[in-house]
Amino acid sequence: MTPPPTDERDFLLRNIWYFALPGIRLKRGAMVAKTLLGEPLLFGRRDDGSVFALRDICPHRGIPLSYGAFDGREVECRYHGWRFDGDGRCTAIPSLCEGQDLDVGRIRVKGRPCREVDGNLWVWFGDREPPPEGDERDVPRVPGIGAPGPRLVETMAFPCFVDHAVIGLMDPAHGPWVHKSWFWRSRRSIHEKAKAFGPVPYGFQMRRHSPSTNSRAYKLVGGRPSTEITFRLPGVRIEHIAAGDHTLVNLTTVTPVSWTMSEVNHCVYWTMPWLSALKPVLRPYVRRFLGQDRDVVVQQQEGLKHDPALMLIRDADTQARWYHQLKREWVRSEEEERPFRNPVKECVLRWRS
Ligand code: FES
Ligand SMILES: [Fe+2]
Repeated sequence: MTPPPTDERDFLLRNIWYFALPGIRLKRGAMVAKTLLGEPLLFGRRDDGSVFALRDICPHRGIPLSYGAFDGREVECRYHGWRFDGDGRCTAIPSLCEGQDLDVGRIRVKGRPCREVDGNLWVWFGDREPPPEGDERDVPRVPGIGAPGPRLVETMAFPCFVDHAVIGLMDPAHGPWVHKSWFWRSRRSIHEKAKAFGPVPYGFQMRRHSPSTNSRAYKLVGGRPSTEITFRLPGVRIEHIAAGDHTLVNLTTVTPVSWTMSEVNHCVYWTMPWLSALKPVLRPYVRRFLGQDRDVVVQQQEGLKHDPALMLIRDADTQARWYHQLKREWVRSEEEERPFRNPVKECVLRWRS
């Protein structure tokens, strides 16, 4: 990926699962081309529903395989018709004549481990094998929903380096300035907050609590809601809201596309049937809300072009600080081949918003 990073904090994590795309965007027998972490990838879903990810470059002459065809089993390159299965193995070279004994099975397109979890595709970026299922480094799960996939998904491009998108989304102090919608909260309602935080595997968590009474959106859930917000590397935020017998979960992920582009996916899962009827109303709100975060990041880029020194203040930016610490610790523990030591300690953070 070019250009190279100028800031030593600008690096991307490896040997970790990244959110790739919502499962509903990949039908059986179809393929989707998508660049992630600077790498062109081809995602496909076979006729049996299983998914795969290949490097979107034909090993013959380099044309993206996504220009070719997929029959639900094999990808056919549009240039000379070489065929590849979902594991990247070449199965046919149409130009070969009898006696031209080329071992086609030895020709490979590089594949990436790809899994569908809770209705979304995740892709493994690393030189090592992914961890076994259920391991702490496995794909993060959406707890307690019992649905095959999200009921609402919004995808949005954030034209910035991944860290700015992650920090912008977790930032507890921007709400009253950036999200000025009537359905959220007003600036007049700013008050001091104190929230308990603690470590979770590869991240941190705002412990379960009753949300601020100035968050109108929570009223949608009904009952007396309580919420718990978990962040974990590489850029996954899971907000779990429980109210009575019902649950609503927001899964927000940030995946780097390049050094200057990130993709945010916001998935909403819920158990209350009546909320599904409100989906047409809900979708524009989600889009507007995410769009507000995106717009401020777009404006921020104008200043960041000049490479200014930035500040992280207490306690409003403590989560951002943890994010940088977690990233650095991830890399160090990998390099030193030792267990990850979470830098986050149990504490209470206070800020006004
Ligand atoms: S470039 Fe793909 S088959 Fe020749
Ligand atoms: Fe925001």
